[in-house]
Amino acid sequence: MDQVPVGINPRIPNVARMYDYYLGGKDNFASDREAAEQVLAIVPATRDAARENRAFMQRAVRYLAERGIRQFLDIGTGLPTQGNVHEVAGEDARVVYVDNDPIVLTHARALLAGSRDVDVVQGDLRDPAAIMDEAKLIDFSEPVAVLVVAVLHFVQDSDDPARLIGLLKERMAPGSHLVLSHACPNRPVESDDISHVYDAATSGIRLRTRAEILPLFDGLELVEPGLANVAEWRPEVAELAPLQGVGDYLLGGVALRP
Ligand SMILES: C[S@@+](CC[C@H](N)C(=O)[O-])C[C@H]1O[C@@H](n2cnc3c(N)ncnc32)[C@H](O)[C@@H]1O
Repeated sequence: MDQVPVGINPRIPNVARMYDYYLGGKDNFASDREAAEQVLAIVPATRDAARENRAFMQRAVRYLAERGIRQFLDIGTGLPTQGNVHEVAGEDARVVYVDNDPIVLTHARALLAGSRDVDVVQGDLRDPAAIMDEAKLIDFSEPVAVLVVAVLHFVQDSDDPARLIGLLKERMAPGSHLVLSHACPNRPVESDDISHVYDAATSGIRLRTRAEILPLFDGLELVEPGLANVAEWRPEVAELAPLQGVGDYLLGGVALRP
């Protein structure tokens, strides 16, 4: 990215732009690339894990669209890249993209200008009630897919992630689904080292273990294969085989609200 939009500080690594860099995108600055390279030095599999996470999100949306879900609320949507939710969900789906980062919102609005049944709203996962009020395209009395994909690790324990997910679950009508993925350490030292890099970025990070992530689905019914390495969540035959040697760096699951 050459030109710096007004109000954007290119010297502070930005978590959305770091993810864009992992995915091979061009919407990032030197500070983002430097921080991302520090993470890659600690966990070389980060780039593969990010790509697998994106593929998981797309498979989950396709799975739900095939089962009749026509509304998608994508919280922490990230910079638009290929295979965004509305492109996978189909033309008759209503999609609301939510992020707390102004640069993400600017890009998403530019991409979606004129799209019917797609909206972009500013919102913070730490205030789910405000997000659901702003998401006017979503009818919460009907089944909805709520996506919390690779974003909850940017919420600290002091903000009580389980309570926040609980507030979303409360408003989801029966037949709704939660799609959630979350970063996970493979070795204890990784949590501290990676946290150190993200401490200098626009958001700190809190990697969580499988035992910490699983209870977030309480009250819901996880569909097969349950909470899994994102690369192993219903891989499709036509897809390339999941990358070998990618550890359980991102765990994901899809669960039904009965
Ligand atoms: C790693 S990206 C994930 C993008 C997309 N969900 C995916 O998985 O491909 C995380 C996104 O979450 C956003 N984010 C971080 N903290 C957030 C918060 N508290 N509320 C809303 N969005 C947040 C960041 O701005 C970034 O765009």
